[in-house]
Amino acid sequence: MEKTTSKTWWKESVVYQIYPRSFNDSNGDGIGDLQGITQKLDYLKELGIDVIWLSPVYQSPNDDNGYDISDYQSIMSDFGTMEDWEELIDQIHQREMKLIMDLVVNHSSDEHQWFQESKKSVDNPYRDYYYWKPGKDGKEPNNWESVFSGSAWEYDENTEEYYLHLFSRKQPDLNWENPKLREEVYRMMKFWLDKGIDGFRMDVINFISKAPGLPDAPNPHGKKYAPGGEFFMDGPRIHEFLQEMNEKVLSQYDVLTVGEMPGVTVEEAVLYTGEERQEVSMVFQFEHMDLDGGPEGKWDLRPLKLTDLKNSLSKWQTGLDGKGWNSLYLNNHDQPRMVSRFGNDQKYRVESAKMLATMLHMLQGTPYIYQGEELGMTNIKLDSINDYKDIETLNMYREKVVEGHADEQKVMNSIYVKGRDNARTPIQWDDSENAGFTTGTPWLAVNENYQYINAKQAVLDENSIYHYYRELIQLRKQHDIIVYGSYELLLPDDEELYVYTRTLGDEKLLVLLNFTGDEKTFMLPSSISYSKKEVLISNYPVDVDASIEQLGLKPYEARVYKLK
Ligand code: NOJ
Repeated sequence: MEKTTSKTWWKESVVYQIYPRSFNDSNGDGIGDLQGITQKLDYLKELGIDVIWLSPVYQSPNDDNGYDISDYQSIMSDFGTMEDWEELIDQIHQREMKLIMDLVVNHSSDEHQWFQESKKSVDNPYRDYYYWKPGKDGKEPNNWESVFSGSAWEYDENTEEYYLHLFSRKQPDLNWENPKLREEVYRMMKFWLDKGIDGFRMDVINFISKAPGLPDAPNPHGKKYAPGGEFFMDGPRIHEFLQEMNEKVLSQYDVLTVGEMPGVTVEEAVLYTGEERQEVSMVFQFEHMDLDGGPEGKWDLRPLKLTDLKNSLSKWQTGLDGKGWNSLYLNNHDQPRMVSRFGNDQKYRVESAKMLATMLHMLQGTPYIYQGEELGMTNIKLDSINDYKDIETLNMYREKVVEGHADEQKVMNSIYVKGRDNARTPIQWDDSENAGFTTGTPWLAVNENYQYINAKQAVLDENSIYHYYRELIQLRKQHDIIVYGSYELLLPDDEELYVYTRTLGDEKLLVLLNFTGDEKTFMLPSSISYSKKEVLISNYPVDVDASIEQLGLKPYEARVYKLK
């Protein structure tokens, strides 16, 4: 296929994700809020951010922290009011940044008016907004399991049928086969677009088309995702639905759309993001997030092999080059903290956070920074399960420890490594009480390391991770090759160094990354020739004139050369 990478603003942007509950609390109730975000916009502008992705702020009973929406067109009172939201978007636009909102339409809350109607009777006009089925032989309609543990079906006594919920029982799946439901969603999307937003992050959007008849999964256990995944991921009508959404809504606006797509393959992603197909701008793929999980899924811990990470990222880099577009991320509100997972969050916290950032920001695609990543925030260990708030974690603990009698310490260890609350602890703004996040009692514990890991310190220290991110973001704005250059992996079998090049015209970037806590030697392959070299960025002082034919890399060193 011909390479057709057109230049668009969203390819050249850096996105910053805000998880509002944990960002900044302006009114002392212990929960981050919209006014709290507005107060920090200058901080984000200083960092160089182009686009803010705001995780859900809609009305919600908060079973899954806002990913269970009971009214798509109003604001959760914990976060403020619609006026606060309007002030926020206005202030974002005044600073020439953009705002994308979360679109959560695989499911709603069971407290949404649609579901309240739907469950009243089998002939209610809203019945078909959801998936209802009678039981099979006195049991659930099929053997699918919820991503949050247990069956994906819940029995409702009133009408004596089950409804489908791929996530919690308070998150019933919306039925996209119903054109009326689709029209409602499109109307709601226009409501927000007409208020001036600049795009959507679409929650598990590749789950919206389910296989007809909702068949039993042949292997209900031992899948990476909820058993049944092959019948609802990238389902038969998914491309049709996305193209319809694009035609009816998105094509009328100049927007960034990113579809969150667990289980998506490169081949599918070419279809989702191929420009001529008019579906979404880019997808969040999960392959690199799954490399340290075993056959039983994310809680089944496995050490990560660098060659697996390199293989996977390389496959996506070359697979979408000229055919689609990558999103680039190493963490978000569902994943552990990047530096704890892929780096060393103790002795080399600063060096390894910068190294990982270099790896990500030098790849082809749109980089996403998750709040606090720019400070090198780390995972947390809370003593008791009672201190955890995340429904996925709590359900898994109940299923394994309370009901399944698994070894408690082993389960707690898996939570320390993979639990979603690792990423959800309040942002560490300064070294005052509660890290300056709130004057009240924070809804989730603050990480004790806030006394030395915090934004105030980072902004003052010119060698901080924060300033390194600023530099990376500036470089992207100065060098087209960082955005558009083609990728090539060097040293594919090396378990310690990750080395790759980017090429655009007669320019080349050489990206050198040491993934170990030891000094390593790099030998330049003879295939790379150049007459001029320049160091673009590095996380240690570098002798710019030193030869690169053979060079030593310090622990977690990252270095980027521009060659001509
Ligand atoms: C993905 C979201 O990122 C996650 O936080 C949420 O729990 C599920 N989708 C369900 O909405």
